[in-house]
Amino acid sequence: MFIIHNFAVFEGLDGSGTTTQLRLLAERFAGHSPPDSPLPPFFETCEPTGGPVGRLIRSVLGGEISLEPAAVAGLFAADRYEHLYGKDGIAGRCARGELVVSDRYLPSSLVYQGITCGEELPRRLNADFPLPELLLFFDLDPQIAQERLNARNGREIYEHLDFQVKVRERYKALLPEYAEAGVRVECVDASAGIGETAELVWRAVQKMPIMNRGYF
Ligand code: TMP
Repeated sequence: MFIIHNFAVFEGLDGSGTTTQLRLLAERFAGHSPPDSPLPPFFETCEPTGGPVGRLIRSVLGGEISLEPAAVAGLFAADRYEHLYGKDGIAGRCARGELVVSDRYLPSSLVYQGITCGEELPRRLNADFPLPELLLFFDLDPQIAQERLNARNGREIYEHLDFQVKVRERYKALLPEYAEAGVRVECVDASAGIGETAELVWRAVQKMPIMNRGYF
């Protein structure tokens, strides 16, 4: 598997704060664009995407429609293909020198669909996708993550404590594999305050070569 440079992903349990942290990171970049800014162009994105396949996945996650787990695994892979190679996709943006950060990507499929479908299917469906340059794992005790989710409205199909305990175990088992493949893997303590965690994220992103390649 090859690595897409200038591409970072946030991964973690549901409730670990990846979405909040990506918003804060985007705010840090907002209002700055070359040539008058020292920062590279920044593109914030997520999976499931807001595209047609991603919207279908959201209906499954919300429990509005029910599909076989293997079909859901296939939908996540189809959504990812569009995300990477469709119009204004990740691959093209990164090649043009944009810094792209996605709230979830391929590791989520190996972890979540690994639980619902077994390991082999999500590995096969995702075997040809490139890896990100940086993977930030937001580590949090599943019990604390669950308390955060309890404070929100609505509940998605994977947002239960017993499932999230397995999610954390699978991430822990999977992360060394990515490090061996050449991805820079960093664990962020997601139990810290929002501002403190944002600083850890900023420090990790600053180590990406694109942040120094003539921009500062
Ligand atoms: P989130 O946007 O709130 O993180 O919700 C996305 C949910 O979808 C989350 O429970 C993780 C799950 N998911 C998968 O099961 N497989 C995937 O490939 C991706 C990207 C997400």
